Amino acid sequence: MRPALTRHLPEIVPFAHGLLQRALQPGDIAIDATAGNGHDTLLLAQRVGDGGHVYAFDVQEQAISATRERLEAHGVAYRVSVIHAGHETVQQHVQQPVQAAVFNLGYLPRSDKQVTTQADSTIAALEGIWQLLQPHGLIVLVVYHGHAGGKQERSALEDYVCSLDPATVRVVRYALANVPNDPPYVLALEKLKQVSAC
Ligand SMILES: C[S@@+](CC[C@H](N)C(=O)[O-])C[C@H]1O[C@@H](n2cnc3c(N)ncnc32)[C@H](O)[C@@H]1O
Repeated sequence: MRPALTRHLPEIVPFAHGLLQRALQPGDIAIDATAGNGHDTLLLAQRVGDGGHVYAFDVQEQAISATRERLEAHGVAYRVSVIHAGHETVQQHVQQPVQAAVFNLGYLPRSDKQVTTQADSTIAALEGIWQLLQPHGLIVLVVYHGHAGGKQERSALEDYVCSLDPATVRVVRYALANVPNDPPYVLALEKLKQVSAC
């Protein structure tokens, strides 16, 4: 484990994990849109507990196997549907209200760097998950954008989230402002609860 460098301002991935842990309760439904090596899937599965469920998507067989292995090693595989399909197909696979979802954009570490998330499918998945998301539900994106194609995806994603109606969604960005070389950052979207005017 890396030593803690700060007390109040966590690094990017711990910050994303903290948001997800606060948004989820035992019994909830969660989505890992980019399973990869299964680190986020495991966190979600541990958080939703025996009564909850996680849907984890990836397009690469290597990622599906790695995620299944990690879940089995921790005894929580039964809480997760590991789905070998693009996250843009989310509505074909998930029909339940969802409390939280996570994306780690970019490529699978130590694998084919040509297989990366893409703006069009990322935004299609966001729209699909949005339809399933409960009021106060949370979508967390860890945006890796240093690779080829990363800036294009980041730019399209930023345009998309900045165009969303602030009356229905709060969009927050958490980034290390004084670190060089395109460090990853977090975009988080909370679905606002509509209150009826009486
Ligand atoms: C940065 S990695 C994810 C890391 C992962 N969260 C972890 O904990 O190890 C990005 C993953 O997105 C996957 N991916 C790319 N396009 C996708 C798509 N359309 N749907 C689902 N996964 C996709 C890649 O195969 C890769 O495994």
